[in-house]
Amino acid sequence: MSVYLNGRFLPLAEASIPVLDRGFIFGDGVYELVPVYSNKPFRLAEHLRRLQGSLDGIRLANPHDLEGWRERILQLIALQDFSDQSLYIQVTRGVAPRDHAFPKGVAPTVFMLAQPLVTATPAQKAAGVCAVTAVDNRWLRCNIKAISLLANILLRQQATDVDCAETVMLRDGFLTEGAASNIFVVKDGVLRVPPPSNLMLTGITYDVVLELAAANDIPHEVRAISEAEVRDADELWMTSSTKEIMAIVKLDGVPVGDGVPGPLAQRMEGLYQTFKQQVMRA
Ligand code: PDD
Repeated sequence: MSVYLNGRFLPLAEASIPVLDRGFIFGDGVYELVPVYSNKPFRLAEHLRRLQGSLDGIRLANPHDLEGWRERILQLIALQDFSDQSLYIQVTRGVAPRDHAFPKGVAPTVFMLAQPLVTATPAQKAAGVCAVTAVDNRWLRCNIKAISLLANILLRQQATDVDCAETVMLRDGFLTEGAASNIFVVKDGVLRVPPPSNLMLTGITYDVVLELAAANDIPHEVRAISEAEVRDADELWMTSSTKEIMAIVKLDGVPVGDGVPGPLAQRMEGLYQTFKQQVMRA
């Protein structure tokens, strides 16, 4: 498996960074995860725009322009011997003596890794997953895709500890998102999701789901969602590039709706898979 590190393509086992990299020392960096279908990066421009937003958010100059990124990414994709990939991109503030202040004149560290994309099987989708809720105790800049994911990791582990797939986060009585996904709510046939804000990361999958809802006349609303609405939902979904659309059938041990993936989840799953075949792989 070849990876990309600071201008070079090399085997994963040969890629190494100095221990004083600020990504290692401080978690001082940002990342992206781009799904690749049939060797084609999905919505690369949107992912690179989100990366730019994250870099701006941490005041780190983008080491490459769009074309520079595209070239390197396509090269890395072509080097793999599997065609559906999960492409991880990480940029850190580089290597410098440990000091909180930004170092001057230091080149950022750029690392990219392409791994086989593992999505849920039809059987897993048909079964759905369980989730737990937790207070969203992250910082107030969750729209930055920061590599410092300690809070997300601790929150996700609360779900893992009870054999669930995700932690649904609530802040001040309102839904934010999952530890590594966005959360949609369905009530009486209406699909709802919180609006983009500094309290969550707006997923590329989130955008696709809303576009598919609009294109297929599925009633949908982008607005704040209360904890009561989450607990009273007919359907709950988690969405991400790797999980795609996954129905949450149990929340805090209580069945969501009928306790099986609901009709709208099944419909959206069909639309998403068709979209994947016709658009993402095209
Ligand atoms: N994470 N919110 C959070 C906190 C996330 O970590 C993710 C995805 C999303 C969904 O974004 P997208 O639809 O673009 O995948 C929302 C990725 C999968 C990860 O960290 O591995």
